[in-house]
Amino acid sequence: MSLSNDYVIVWSKIMSERDGNMQALVWNNRFNVGIREFDQHHKILFEMVNSLIIAKEENSGPQVIKNSLEQLHMYTIFHFTAEEAMMRHFEFDGLDEHVAEHEALLQQVIDYQDRIAANDGVTIDEMLEFLAGWLIDHTLGLDQLYGPFLRHRVE
Ligand SMILES: [Fe+2]
Ligand SMILES: [Fe+2]
Repeated sequence: MSLSNDYVIVWSKIMSERDGNMQALVWNNRFNVGIREFDQHHKILFEMVNSLIIAKEENSGPQVIKNSLEQLHMYTIFHFTAEEAMMRHFEFDGLDEHVAEHEALLQQVIDYQDRIAANDGVTIDEMLEFLAGWLIDHTLGLDQLYGPFLRHRVE
């Protein structure tokens, strides 16, 4: 996965505040895929990453972080399943590649959960960098490819 310019811009805003409060991810119209249901899902995913950023700012305990990560994991499964079902229904060519990226992303979330459970020293900064990165990269990357194909079939 390559880092998009948007990722760099948004993430550099977060990092510039590293010594103070981290800055939340801000929704930008370029994240829209043009399918109302999925744009709504993506906004909720942004809010979930933001709630992890807030948990960090507030020095919340490990249980709060674990719960937030579990919520994000569950919602991500729901969202990925919905996207895949629609791509499959309309026989979108990019389905296999898209499913493979979803699976890789989910596996990485599971890996973070396992590392946190094992107390292996993973930092919340490291986890947030990964989560913000994949959310922005995937939403601006592969998710944008199904937009033009599905938009007129759905709405
Ligand atoms: Fe996707
Ligand atoms: Fe998505």
